[in-house]
Amino acid sequence: MSRIANSTQTVSFQAFGGVDVLELVEIEMPHPRPGEVLVEVLVAGINHIEAYIRRGQFVDHIDCAENQTQGSDFAGIVLEVGEGVTTLRRNAEVLGHARLSSQAYHVVVPASNLVVKPKHLPWEVAGALFLAGLTAYDTIESVNIRPGDAIVVSAAAGGVGSIEIQLAKLKGATVIGTCGERNFDYLRQLGVKPVVYGDGLAERIEKLAPNGVAAYLDNFGVDGADISAALGVDPSRFTSSDDRKACELAAIVPDAEAAAHNTQVLGMLADLAGSRAISLLISGYYPFGLVQEAFDDLETRHARGKIVLGMKPAHSYGITKARSIHDAMD
Ligand SMILES: NC(=O)c1ccc[n+]([C@@H]2O[C@H](COP(=O)([O-])OP(=O)(O)OC[C@H]3O[C@@H](n4cnc5c(N)ncnc54)[C@H](OP(=O)(O)O)[C@@H]3O)[C@@H](O)[C@H]2O)c1
Repeated sequence: MSRIANSTQTVSFQAFGGVDVLELVEIEMPHPRPGEVLVEVLVAGINHIEAYIRRGQFVDHIDCAENQTQGSDFAGIVLEVGEGVTTLRRNAEVLGHARLSSQAYHVVVPASNLVVKPKHLPWEVAGALFLAGLTAYDTIESVNIRPGDAIVVSAAAGGVGSIEIQLAKLKGATVIGTCGERNFDYLRQLGVKPVVYGDGLAERIEKLAPNGVAAYLDNFGVDGADISAALGVDPSRFTSSDDRKACELAAIVPDAEAAAHNTQVLGMLADLAGSRAISLLISGYYPFGLVQEAFDDLETRHARGKIVLGMKPAHSYGITKARSIHDAMD
């Protein structure tokens, strides 16, 4: 058995601020206590909520200290199991969720936070699935979709939206997704009717859904409530960006019951993605050391699918953003 190093690196910030406060710091290698598992992280997803926490916007909601680490999503390989863990062994391939700590070369979590990675699920998708997938799943469940419903999803090409639209389609809904024109082809490939956001959106949606809109999922959170009301959507079937914020914050620091739910949903999503029933586009794969650049890309709010940090990059140069390819062709 190979030796485990004495130290490792994690993303950390020591003061609230922009991407420039993010740094990689050396820490002592963590080891699992009873019931826990040490995972070597291969891929960790990044999420807007982490940027909001880093900017100090959630000091009243999340216990934030100096030397704060971050990250919920990850996939990797089990290195060490704590006493009493019988469900996983060293070298098992897993994905999971962590409390503000997954953006690191190594993470320790309760064994109950992990699911075995389906064989055909790519690492980068496995590492990006947790927070966006859970938010999408819980949001879709909250609006009670029935076969034949026409629903609207805002920011449909983003991390959360692109999963929501596919879960809604699996329930038999007709889905209209708001996006910029550059994402029309992407959404059409997923079987979604794209519609450009901005002035006149309600009228454009009415043309695409002449029999009415049953539910409105507002990820972007600018004018969704007004548009949903204008379309005559029952308020109980409208979800706001604030609902989404509450859902994400609860997922980041869950109680035991919520953590069990989160693992169960993650397992379900991993099976769906592993069997290609849903797909998750990874439009940015950043070497771990480029964590500032990765968040910079995310925070432009025009990512398609998800952006991830790769802990085993082949090289650390020549990052091409998916949107740059399109822009270069204009
Ligand atoms: N309230 C909250 O707590 C909360 C939490 C997390 C995220 N959010 C917001 O929700 C949005 C989506 O979240 P995500 O995690 O899926 O992020 P994401 O992956 O970064 O999604 C970005 C998507 O937003 C779309 N977009 C940009 N401007 C838009 C606009 N004016 N109207 C509608 N869509 C627009 C982009 O489409 P185009 O490139 O085609 O323009 C892009 O596909 C993010 O912008 C984020 O800031 C809010």
